[in-house]
Amino acid sequence: MLEERFASEVRADDRPQRHPATRVSSWGKAKVITSLAFGQLPECPGQEVKPSGGGRETPSSCMPPIKGDSDDMPVYSAVAKTIKPLVGQKNWEHLRRLRRKPAPKLTAKAAARQRKLDRAAEIAAISHDLNELAVYFKTDKWGGHRYTQHYQRHLQHLKNESFNLVEIGIGGYNRAGQGGASLRMWKHFFPNAQIFGIDIQDKSFVDEKRITTFIGDQSDPTSLLDIAGRIGTLDVIIDDGSHRSPHVITTFETLFPLLRDGGIYAVEDTQTSYWPEWLGSEDLNDPNTTMGMLKGLVDGLNYEEFVDEEYRPSYTDLNVVGAHYYHNLVILEKGKNAEGTNRRNILKARYAKV
Ligand SMILES: C[S@@+](CC[C@H](N)C(=O)[O-])C[C@H]1O[C@@H](n2cnc3c(N)ncnc32)[C@H](O)[C@@H]1O
Repeated sequence: MLEERFASEVRADDRPQRHPATRVSSWGKAKVITSLAFGQLPECPGQEVKPSGGGRETPSSCMPPIKGDSDDMPVYSAVAKTIKPLVGQKNWEHLRRLRRKPAPKLTAKAAARQRKLDRAAEIAAISHDLNELAVYFKTDKWGGHRYTQHYQRHLQHLKNESFNLVEIGIGGYNRAGQGGASLRMWKHFFPNAQIFGIDIQDKSFVDEKRITTFIGDQSDPTSLLDIAGRIGTLDVIIDDGSHRSPHVITTFETLFPLLRDGGIYAVEDTQTSYWPEWLGSEDLNDPNTTMGMLKGLVDGLNYEEFVDEEYRPSYTDLNVVGAHYYHNLVILEKGKNAEGTNRRNILKARYAKV
């Protein structure tokens, strides 16, 4: 009988305590007893309540509320009659207070503030992982493409630095209110960076703290130079704009010289190099395509080893220190390429003649 069972589980001195046979050890267990008395357990899916066994406890989040708001409800009265004498007045009052209270209704302003806080917490939890941020902000740099894994590796050293990142191509094309995904991703990966976007369309709706957009045409050096002058130091440049080879090459020739030493220059979607429909070419060595131009940088890394004494190094020979080629993505490191050569020691016969 219920009464006998509870009598053995709860001391009559108002303080529910550990009982060796039942393991009713805390006030939390008293809640279980009361809930049992109301015939409401087990209601939590997959949970069993074992008040007299050594098994799993029902978590308090699964405790159903005590039903009945007034003493004249039959269930309430029956439970009150049975439990109240067992637990005492003080504990009974406590149990009554356990009835689940509805969450207070938030004002629209408070709800918006709460949503903002929830969102900030969600982003903070993934802010170390560029792939996850890409998915969160819905840029195709991860998913559609596999770029962010490489960016993470090449840009990790800037994670907490204060610097400027510029991306050409904000996204959304001429669709109103669309775009900005990657700029938001960069902003949250680099908490101390200023993020700049350039697009041929007006994307000013993307502007917010640490994100600034400019209208500009990457095929027009004047437009690019004007914007670069307004930004200041260029630490990271990413070309994710028109993906037309002549535009990509113009942008590289205009902005790479302005990139600071130690800076990073990336070109995305280089596959368009091979598509005549996108102003590319089927000729793999056509120097007028994005890949043709970028491939030309490889030998320049080793220009100091050339035996042609007439060779005059180009700007990129002297200023590209690393070139990384991935599927549809190229990442360049800028710096002084002047490590020297020992070719005169090794090619003694050749240089003895000179
Ligand atoms: C692929 S989307 C950029 C996506 C964005 N970077 C992201 O990852 O979320 C390309 C963008 O380049 C812009 N664009 C096209 N031609 C351009 C040009 N000549 N100069 C600058 N932007 C251009 C388009 O308007 C479009 O918004």
